[in-house]
Amino acid sequence: MNEQTPIEPSEELPETFYGKNYGRVPTGAPKHKIMSYEEMLEADPGEIPPAAGAPGNYRPKPRRVSYDRYYDPDIAKLEDEHIWAKYWLAAAREEDVPNVGDRITFDIRDKSYLIVRTSENQIKAFRNTCLHRGRALCDHKGSGKEIRCPFHAWTYDLDGKLIWIPSEEDFAVKASGSLGLSEVKCDSWGGHVFINADPDSPPLLDALGPLPELFKDFPLEDRYTVLWLQLKVRANWKTIQEIFQEGYHVIETHWDSMAIFGETETSYDCWKYNDYGHVSRLVTPTGVPSGYFYDRVTIKQVVDQYVRLYCNQEPDPSRGNDLTDGRTYLADIKRETLSREYGVQVPEGNNARLLDFVKFCMFPNFHPWWGEQWPISYRFIPMGLNPEETLMEIRLTAPVPPGGERPRSVEPIVLDFGEDCTGHPELAYTGHIVNQDAAHMEQLQRGMRSAAQDRSYSILANYQEQQITYWHETYDRVLGLDKRQQQDG
Ligand code: FES
Ligand SMILES: [Fe+2]
Repeated sequence: MNEQTPIEPSEELPETFYGKNYGRVPTGAPKHKIMSYEEMLEADPGEIPPAAGAPGNYRPKPRRVSYDRYYDPDIAKLEDEHIWAKYWLAAAREEDVPNVGDRITFDIRDKSYLIVRTSENQIKAFRNTCLHRGRALCDHKGSGKEIRCPFHAWTYDLDGKLIWIPSEEDFAVKASGSLGLSEVKCDSWGGHVFINADPDSPPLLDALGPLPELFKDFPLEDRYTVLWLQLKVRANWKTIQEIFQEGYHVIETHWDSMAIFGETETSYDCWKYNDYGHVSRLVTPTGVPSGYFYDRVTIKQVVDQYVRLYCNQEPDPSRGNDLTDGRTYLADIKRETLSREYGVQVPEGNNARLLDFVKFCMFPNFHPWWGEQWPISYRFIPMGLNPEETLMEIRLTAPVPPGGERPRSVEPIVLDFGEDCTGHPELAYTGHIVNQDAAHMEQLQRGMRSAAQDRSYSILANYQEQQITYWHETYDRVLGLDKRQQQDG
């Protein structure tokens, strides 16, 4: 974008960006080219953070994604076998089990696992099933030096070893023997606890690929959960996940935020590093308008509104007259707020860390965000055996106070099917945005099921939907659907 270009706004900005003055982008409206995201990063002061700027190393080829995988119970069973039983799954956060003996369950499809802190520095995972008659050992969470089944009191130590059977003389097995809960692999990265039910799986690091390197300057282990939302949704987990894999839907779904989201400048990257997992990323700049709004608002108006609405301040009339100064000004305000509220010092420069949406996807269903703009993570967890029900999870984190202990997680807030997301002040305007996304979830299922048999697949954008394409490239390979398609000709 040429910052000197005079821009005449067609009308005054409303008091809120969710205003009526702009309406939806009219059919046929031109998309203007703003400064590319790469150019924005170069114009920002300071070093370009790799998490926002490092290029991926892979570009997926276009691919047909058939709709049956979003509702067919047989394909869901293939996912059980090839994904949920074989991949590293984000199962908990370390601050969910801060003290020795703390435990929490992780449920996916019809399986339940128990995540237990067994010592100050170790967390283990077990199948959540009692050796006696199979009752789940823990309903949701618990604590204590022993794991005691709530049905007949069979008792295990924290390492899963069976230590007491009431009326032991009545059984052919002995508590003092070698019986124990079946353990599954468990490892951590960035305060996230991952499990893998496959004893022969590659190590977690193989699944994480570039993530540890890219998050080096924003260590997630130094953060803790301050808001934990779980939304029950009547849609397949992939249907929901894919809404968060592209910024292309902003034009219609988040039309009332386009004055502050530079969604048309969203950059997309994919990383290929082995034949196991994959990582992809999208980055959307904020504090700049969409290319569709370029001739409708000035950068100064965007910056002033952003300052009023999201920083609760009166804007400085001398700042934000061009895109680069606007970004730096907004980043300066955020830097000062972080220092005041959390004692966290974000180095000078580095506007991306303070302003932009930088979201990664690690196959299959874990999405950590980098940066202070929106420090959350998503998980998309199939709920029970119905392939059209999912628990979508959002965890918002805050920095652990310098020198302090990581506080325990808050409890999850579970929102039932169709419930509103806007009642949580911590989510700020994002509650509204998630509501807008949520409006499509069931409708996507409905529409996909209604497609004619010979048109039962999506048509994906080459660049803007490449995260989805790449994801399905991996999925097809992992589930063996590639071979099936070849056989079908
Ligand atoms: S099922 Fe656990 S003690 Fe009986
Ligand atoms: Fe969205």
